[in-house]
Amino acid sequence: VIFKSSDYASIIIAQEIASLIKEKQAKQEYCVLGLATGSSPIKVYEELVRLHKEENLSFSNVITFNLDEYYPMKKSNVQSYHYFMHEHLFNHVDILSENVHIPDGTISQENLHQYCIDYELKINAAGGLDFQLLGIGRTGHIGFNEPGSHYNSVTRSITLDHLTRSDAAPAFFGIENVPKKAITMGIGTIQKAKRIVIMAWGHKKADVVKETIEGGVTSEVPASYLQHHNNVTFVLDQEAAEQL
Ligand code: GLP
Repeated sequence: VIFKSSDYASIIIAQEIASLIKEKQAKQEYCVLGLATGSSPIKVYEELVRLHKEENLSFSNVITFNLDEYYPMKKSNVQSYHYFMHEHLFNHVDILSENVHIPDGTISQENLHQYCIDYELKINAAGGLDFQLLGIGRTGHIGFNEPGSHYNSVTRSITLDHLTRSDAAPAFFGIENVPKKAITMGIGTIQKAKRIVIMAWGHKKADVVKETIEGGVTSEVPASYLQHHNNVTFVLDQEAAEQL
């Protein structure tokens, strides 16, 4: 779906999430959301906060799992995804803190493998993801699943691509400060979500959007695996769609 403006597109995405939360509330069920960071989802979170404050949307039945986190990374660090999510969403809504899950960038190297296995188990124990929100990196990554990621990959630690680190460099005041690794849900984890919405805004994403949608399914462009998902919508603004 191509929208004129990313702001309007973000409102439509937030409305879909809000409807799902309310539908689950009516059935007295939890709503399990997979959430993304980066600049792309900021307006979606802004609208969800507005719906909470002005239209009584409650997050009391919401369980969230974030896609990824830099590794190593302190939670208090302003560049952490932990900080980002609290700043843009969790501090402003009535979600229970025990229902918020973000990969922990402070876990020790020796416990990391087991930690990733447990993260995956927690998603499954919650009943799986009802909805997964995604952005896309210029390498074609979703979460931090860089080129080469396997279709069946699960939550794990990964080495970041140079392009991904250089795109993150301004926020870290130099590429040398960007962590070399991250923890990410896998492609297999994401693909099990019942519904996926992926967003891309702006000219800089136009090439990777074309490869993802019109190219073949390849591990070189991990987002292209989404072509195999049966309930995914790619939401674009006109600039991101200009190569299609
Ligand atoms: C990071 C995140 C991704 C995100 C991507 C794009 O790499 N790990 O989940 O999709 O950035 O970020 P932006 O939305 O800022 O373009």
